[in-house]
Amino acid sequence: MKSLKDLFENNREWAESVRSEDPSFFETLAAQQNPEYLWIGCSDSRVPANQIVGLLPGEVFVHRNVANMVVHTDFNCLTVLQYAVDVLKIKHVIVVGHYNCGGVQAAYENADNGMIDNWLRNIKDVHHAHRERINALEDEEARVDLLCELNVMTQVANVCHTSIAQNAWARGQKLEVHGWIYSLKDGLLQDLGCTVTGADQIPEVYRILPKKS
Ligand code: CO
Repeated sequence: MKSLKDLFENNREWAESVRSEDPSFFETLAAQQNPEYLWIGCSDSRVPANQIVGLLPGEVFVHRNVANMVVHTDFNCLTVLQYAVDVLKIKHVIVVGHYNCGGVQAAYENADNGMIDNWLRNIKDVHHAHRERINALEDEEARVDLLCELNVMTQVANVCHTSIAQNAWARGQKLEVHGWIYSLKDGLLQDLGCTVTGADQIPEVYRILPKKS
C-alpha cells in the first residue's frame, strides 16, 4: 500500500522524467490545451483514459462517471461535452465502456443498492429495451457483457441527440461520435462499429430543426 507521501514522490519523479524528455513540455501545455478527443468513460480505476490509448497530458479531454453514461439532465456531463465541442473543437467523442463493469452488473441485478439505483436505472432501461436479445443468451456473463456493449451504444446515441452535437453538425463542424469497449482481461479496446458522423444518422424524433431566421 502506498502512502500519500509516496504519491508526491512519484509525482516529482514523473515531472522530472517528462521534463528530461522535453524541457518545454509543461510550459507549452500551460499555455494551451488542444485535444482532439473527448473520452467519456467509466470511473473504474482499471480503465484510465490516457494510459490505455498511449496519450500524453493535453491530448485527451476526459469525463468519467459510473458506467460511462450520458444522461440528458446531467449538467456535469453536458458541460464537459459543450466545452469540448464548442470551445476545444474536439473531432471525436468516444464513449468507452468496459466488460466486468460493476455499475452495469449492479443494474443487471435486482438488489437494493440505495441512491445509486437512480443512476443505474438508465441501464435498466437499456436492459428492458433489449431484453429479448439479452435473455436469448444462456450464460449470465455473456448477458452482462452484451448489456455493457448495448449501454455504450445507447450513450453514443445520447451524445448525438444533444443540441450540442446537432448544433455542431448544423454549422458544418466535423464531429464523429464513437462507441468502444475495453476488456480488463487483456487490456484491449474494441470498436463497436456504431460511429455517427451527422444528424442524418439519428432518428427523426430526436432531430433539432435549425432556427427560422
Ligand atoms: Co465500470
